Amino acid sequence: MLRQIIQYPDPRLAQKSAPIEQVGEDIRILATDMLDTLKSIGGLGLAASQIGVHKRLVIIDIAQSKEDPDAPQNFLPILNPRITVLDKTPHRENEGCLSVSEFRAEVSRPRLVALDGTDLDGNPVRLEGEGYYGACLQHEIDHLDGVLFIDRISYLKRSLYDKKLGKGKIK
Ligand code: NI
Repeated sequence: MLRQIIQYPDPRLAQKSAPIEQVGEDIRILATDMLDTLKSIGGLGLAASQIGVHKRLVIIDIAQSKEDPDAPQNFLPILNPRITVLDKTPHRENEGCLSVSEFRAEVSRPRLVALDGTDLDGNPVRLEGEGYYGACLQHEIDHLDGVLFIDRISYLKRSLYDKKLGKGKIK
């Protein structure tokens, strides 16, 4: 079932998500719905909090980790993901978000990270991401902590966007 992606400034996007202790039918349905939703919209990843469910589950396109732009998309649900910084050298990428309409901005994050979590069957999953893909991994895990990429940009840029939203230029 397709779910609606909630949009900034919905306060649910700023809420922290809880760890998943057991994978029952509810989590499997949630993962399937998130998968269907992400496929229908297109994107590299989606966090459960973006559909208003505050559990630590993300869907990530793991094909992109191979840095082959022609690789077919391969979406994997990852539970309780956490980020380890492998190289903290700052790196800037132009980010956007399915929950933040009509806005992109450069965000500085550590250049190289690893993401560790488990799949739906409890098998460990480890992804490494550098540059753009590394930024995507960090961006998704940020969602589980109630953080959006616009929380990581300058006050000036952020207030310009908030002003634009306030004026109703974006539906
Ligand atoms: Ni996002």
